[in-house]
Amino acid sequence: MRELDASKVPEEKDSRPPVPRRLGVLISGRGSNLQSIIDAIARDRLDAGVAVVISNRADAAGLLRARAKDIETTCLSPREYADRDEYDRAIVEVLQSHRVGLVCLAGFMRLVGAPLLDAFSSRILNIHPSLLPAFPGLDAQRQALDHGVRVTGATVHLVTSELDGGPIVLQSAVPVLDEDTVETLSARILVEEHRIYPEAIRIVLDGGWAVVGRRFVRRRI
Ligand code: GRF
Repeated sequence: MRELDASKVPEEKDSRPPVPRRLGVLISGRGSNLQSIIDAIARDRLDAGVAVVISNRADAAGLLRARAKDIETTCLSPREYADRDEYDRAIVEVLQSHRVGLVCLAGFMRLVGAPLLDAFSSRILNIHPSLLPAFPGLDAQRQALDHGVRVTGATVHLVTSELDGGPIVLQSAVPVLDEDTVETLSARILVEEHRIYPEAIRIVLDGGWAVVGRRFVRRRI
C-alpha cells in the first residue's frame, strides 16, 4: 500500500473559528460557478459577499457576470510577471487589499503556488468535476467516460500543494449513462457543482471544523 504523504496536508488539532465572510473568487473562463455563488448570496442561502473577482484572462466571461452585479474585478495577466511566485504574490496583494477571508477557485486554470497557499492556509477552496481522488487534472469528465466508470460527480476540497488533492469538504455523485457524451455528462455534473459549491463555502465559513490527516472533519452538534 502506498504511504500517504501527510506533510502535504495541513493538520489542525483544534476546530477552526469562523472565517471572515468576504470571498475572493478566482476564475479563468465561463464563470458559472461564480454565478452560483453570487445567486446563493442573493437568495440568502449563503451569508457572505464577493469582495473581488480575479481572472488570469481578460476575456473570461465570468468577469462580465461579476460586473453585472457591481462586483469589483481585476485581471492579472501572468505574462506581466517574472515568474509564478511573483504572479501569486500579486494575487495575494489584491486579495488582502480587499480583506478577503476565503478564496474560491472557480475554474481557475492555474496551479496555486506557495505565496498564495501560505497567505491563505486552509482558506482556499476548489471545485472539481469528478469524485476525487479519481480523475484529477484536466478533462475530468472525459477521463471518467474513457475509463468507463458508472458513477462520477463533483468535489469541493481545500487546496493544498497537491493538485486536486486537498481535504474533501463535499462531494456529490452523478451516474454515467450509456448514451452520455462529454457534453451531456458535464452538464449534469455542473448542476451538482452549482449546488454543492455554495454549500461547501457556507460550511467552511461557519467554522467548527478541523483537518485531521487527510480528512475534513466537522464538529458534532
Ligand atoms: C467547472 O467544471 C469546474 O469544476 C472546473 O472548471 C469548470 C469551470 O466552469 N474546475 P465555470 O467557469 O465555473 O463555468
